[in-house]
Amino acid sequence: MLENVNFLLKDVNDFSPKSKKDVEVFRLKYLGKKGVLNSLFSSFKEIPNSEKKEFGKAINMLKQKVQDKIHQFKDCFNITDSIEEVDRTRPVGLSQLGSRSPISLIKNEIVTIFSKIGFTLSEGPEIEDDWHNFSALNLPKEHPARDMQDTFFVQTDPDFLLRTHTSSVQVRYMNDSSPPIRILSPGRVYRNESISARAHCIFHQIEGLFINQSVSFADLKQTLLYFAKELFGEKTKIRLRPSYFPFTEPSAEVDVYLGLKSESDHKITKGTGWLEIMGCGMVDPAVLENCNIDSKKYSGYAFGLGIERIAMIKYGVSDLRLFFENDIRFLKQFSSL
Ligand code: DAH
Repeated sequence: MLENVNFLLKDVNDFSPKSKKDVEVFRLKYLGKKGVLNSLFSSFKEIPNSEKKEFGKAINMLKQKVQDKIHQFKDCFNITDSIEEVDRTRPVGLSQLGSRSPISLIKNEIVTIFSKIGFTLSEGPEIEDDWHNFSALNLPKEHPARDMQDTFFVQTDPDFLLRTHTSSVQVRYMNDSSPPIRILSPGRVYRNESISARAHCIFHQIEGLFINQSVSFADLKQTLLYFAKELFGEKTKIRLRPSYFPFTEPSAEVDVYLGLKSESDHKITKGTGWLEIMGCGMVDPAVLENCNIDSKKYSGYAFGLGIERIAMIKYGVSDLRLFFENDIRFLKQFSSL
């Protein structure tokens, strides 16, 4: 019997596990209910009295050694073990992919449409000076039309402001280059508006500008019709209503016909089927002159549209605030686009 215990002691001493599983097998073998130690302890009564002391000492030692070994290796295998349990042939699960914001999707779509007819991108700063945002665009200081756009001024220097429209990029571009000019300027703009389902203090616009010799209003109309058909479908109709912008003469607002198919069509078009999507017009000669372009030789058109408005129509979004809240449940819906 004692030789048996000595043999087991050697087995325990030699035990060198390669995984957590080995440790567990070892533990069950020695300390389990039907394990080696329990059976040794229950065989104790059969040991002749003269050997009991030595045998008892040996099995207690064996038990101690087993516990030490388990203790020694218990925490060693967390890493190795998890690697062992991983099935490396299993296909990798896709991690959650982000998605483009609906504003970027619409912006990219509009940029693509205009790039097909030769418009290139030009961007400008979001903190703008008075000249580029207002004065050069026929909106001198104290001009009442400045009230059309509630402005955030830079407190320390009121000559600077957060641009209220992307029309400021027109001025920058015309100043720096000579016609022909054919640019598209997307970007973020700011207005001091209270936030609601229909208005926000931050939003996005795209400005278009075309300057060349003998550009006419008919060119503008045809370009906008092409754009509306590309964006909303071949059957789309547009109409131009006379309007006023200080930097264009004549000026117009452009409506698209959405029809009155659904309840939301009735709601967003106020029962008319028509929805305004942008402002446009022929660049006022005074603006050309402000930007050192000869207004006798050149003419051009400009237009400006709100990206959120187009996104609301295209994706059926009824609350503008959703575009800025970064709610993952909202954004996820655009992941396949
Ligand atoms: N800048 C105008 C606005 O923010 C939009 C606009 C209207 C831009 C007419 C233009 C234009 O270029 O011709 O309300």
